[in-house]
Order: sequence, then structure tokens, then C-alpha cells
Amino acid sequence: MMVILLGPPGAGKGTQSRRLSDEFQIPQISTGDLLREARAQKTDLGEKAEAYMKSGRLVPDDLVISLIEDRLERPDCQNGCILDGFPRTLAQAESLQKSLKVKGKALSHVINLKVSSDEVVERLSGRRQCSQCGENYHLHFKPTTVQNLCDRCGGQLFQRDDDQESVIRERLRVYENQTAPLVQFYSQLGLLQQIAGIGAMDDIYQKLRQTLRGESR
Ligand code: AP5
Repeated sequence: MMVILLGPPGAGKGTQSRRLSDEFQIPQISTGDLLREARAQKTDLGEKAEAYMKSGRLVPDDLVISLIEDRLERPDCQNGCILDGFPRTLAQAESLQKSLKVKGKALSHVINLKVSSDEVVERLSGRRQCSQCGENYHLHFKPTTVQNLCDRCGGQLFQRDDDQESVIRERLRVYENQTAPLVQFYSQLGLLQQIAGIGAMDDIYQKLRQTLRGESR
């Protein structure tokens, strides 16, 4: 099962794909997480990506494409994966199509989570993330039991440096210009499925899992 979760920043891609990964036993691959890891480890890639990420712009295609190609070669992707935050440009989508074709593989689902810009700003400005396991929380929509500590592993929560309102607005602008055209790209390939990303996280999860299981919703 090879799945792409599309959607604007804050649509819930990370929240939902982590849970789907547990249920379907395939890895969730987030280019955002991989790039943040590279920044934390101060690798060459991390240093190149830092300024783009801090300002809400996209990291250049060649860097991200080679990052994802390496990641997809790992043995845990043998039965597929859930791509979260990749592809983000037409060049990335076309490169993925080519690379899958060479390997004799194909996408099984491309799901677009639809969320309004106002909702995105509210979600991202209140988002907090665990510094140890990466679990996502929200000050109001998904608070932790103990303030600032992860319910899953007890790690400290932090706020991402691109979750400031001015950077969120830039990320939304970049999304509209560079990523939204992928909806049409996958629609033309007959692969696109749309799911409303608004409402209770559990309800959205149920719709996603039914879609992946091929059950009618
Ligand atoms: P990335 O990390 O991919 O960020 P993003 O796409 O902007 O997505 P987010 O992680 O912000 O949102 P999400 O949809 O995962 O939402 P979440 O589940 O966290 O990318 C960061 C940067 O890296 C980019 O700006 C770029 O610079 C670079 N980059 C990454 N990939 C790249 C690529 N392919 N090419 C080039 N550059 C790339 O939810 C958000 C919040 O909402 C959470 O607090 C959550 O608890 C809450 N929430 C979730 N669902 C609901 C709900 N139903 N109701 C209420 N609250 C909810």
C-alpha cells in the first residue's frame, strides 16, 4: 500500500498518518520530520534546509527528492508507506511517478485532507510537539494530561520555529502556489480522493481507514 496524504500545513497529515502507520504496519515518512532531524544533527542537508524551513519556503526539489529516494530504499518500505508532506511540487510528483515506475510499483491512494486557512492558523499556532517521540498536541484541541509533558513518553513539548503566525501565513501562500496544483495532477491520474479534514480527529481517522480499506464511507 503506497499512500500519499496531501493537504495544507496543519491539515492533520502528521496526526493521522502516525495513527494509520500503527494500524496498517507501514512506515509514515514525513519529509518535514526527516529535514528537522537533519537540522538537529547539523548535517550538510540540515544546514542547507534551515533557512528555507525557518521562513516557511520549500527546500529545493533536488535535495528533497534525493532524501526521499534514499528513504524509500530502506527495507521497511517493502510493503509500502504513507508519504506525509511529499510530494510538494509538480517536479517532486513527477519524479516520484518515474521512480515508482522503474521499480514496478504504483501509488494505491492519494488522499487530500481539506481544511480552511483560518483553521490552519488556529491549529498551527496552538500546536506543540514532543521532543522525544514526535507526538503532536494542541493547547486546546488535544491537550496533554500533564502540562508540557507528552502523554505517550513523558518527553518535553516544544513549539516549532515555523509555527509563528507570520511564517504560517507564508507556508499557506507557498502551499497555494506550489502544492495545491498537485490536487489536479493526481485527479487527472484518477487517483485523488477528498476527505474533509474538519471535525473530530477520531471521525477523520475513521474515514481515512475506511478509504484505505476500500470500504464505502
Ligand atoms: P512539514 O513538517 O511537512 O509541515 P507541513 O506540511 O506544513 O505540515 P504540518 O506538520 O505543519 O501539519 P500537518 O498537516 O502534519 O498537521 P498536524 O497533524 O501536525 O514541513 C515543514 C517544512 O519543511 C516546510 O515548510 C518546508 O520548508 C520543508 N519541507 C517539508 N517537506 C518538503 C518537501 N516535500 N519539499 C520541500 N520542502 C519541504 O496538525 C496540526 C495541529 O492541529 C496539531 O496541533 C494537531 O493536534 C491539530 N489537529 C490535527 N487534526 C485536528 C482536528 N481534526 N481538529 C483540531 N485540531 C487538529
